[in-house]
Order: sequence, then C-alpha cells, then structure tokens
Amino acid sequence: MLDQKVADLLNQQINKEFYSAYLYLEFANFYETKGLDGFANWYKVQAQEERDHAMLFYQYLHNNSVSVTLEAIAKPECSLNGLSDPLKAALEHEEYVTSLINTIYAAANEVHDFRTLQFLDWFVKEQGEEEKNASDLITKMDLFGSDPKSLYMLDNELAGRVYAAPSLVL
Ligand code: FEO
Repeated sequence: MLDQKVADLLNQQINKEFYSAYLYLEFANFYETKGLDGFANWYKVQAQEERDHAMLFYQYLHNNSVSVTLEAIAKPECSLNGLSDPLKAALEHEEYVTSLINTIYAAANEVHDFRTLQFLDWFVKEQGEEEKNASDLITKMDLFGSDPKSLYMLDNELAGRVYAAPSLVL
C-alpha cells in the first residue's frame, strides 16, 4: 500500500503532465501560425513525451493497486507574442515541474517508500535533461534568431526531432 499523501501527489502529477502536453501543443500551435514548422514539430514531439510521462504515473499507481482519479485539464496559460516567448515559458515550466517531482520525492523519502523513490529517479534525471534542452534552445535562439537564414537553419534542425518512447517501462 502506498502512503496516502504520496499516492495523492502521484495522482495529481498525472494531471500536471497532461497539462504540460497541452501547453506544449499550444506552443506548437503558435509556431505553426508563424510558419516555423520545425519549432512546431519540436513541441509536438515534446507534447507526446509529456503524455507518456502522464501514463507512467497512471500505470505506476495501478501497478500498486491505487485507483486513479482523472481531473479536468486546464486551458494552457501563456501569453505568446515574440518567437522566443514559448522557449522562455518552456524553461520556466520545466523548472516548475522539477519542483513538483522533488516534492513527491521528498514525501516518498519521508515515509521510506523506496519503491516510489526508485520509480521517481527516472523523472529526476529526465527533468535535468528537459531543463537543459529548454535552456539550450533559448541560447540558440539568442545567438541565431535575429538572422533569417540562421533561423531557417535552426527551424530545419528542430524539424528533425523524432518521437521516441520513454526508456522507462513499467
Ligand atoms: Fe514531464 Fe517536461 O516534464
């Protein structure tokens, strides 16, 4: 049996991850309207990854005989004007998600729930990668975004991102 507080936090994280998917789909939506299909592709793949994250929390709870409650997914909250706005919002959002994972980790640690800690280890590492990816994109945009030819090449680079299933399998 999972500790109730840990189970509740894990359940809430399902919604947070689906919200992340929705937020990134909104970023893709923004870039589609700007004609930057590569940036749009990047965020569509990111949205798929977030959906995977949600499903990992869902499955982990079911594997531990906890019934899941699905809540409404909120409308994406963001104000997108400039081409860098989604990139900056993404980094801010990933830092927030890292704080959520850390909160669950701390709760599991408090009750010596080593199984959940081991499950969360993958997410701790994943958050490090996601923050780095988000930060790298901001750096590239700062360097190349103001030159149309360079922006075109960066868009082409981001068009090459392909979806891969998560390395964590439950
Ligand atoms: Fe599921 Fe981008 O963190």
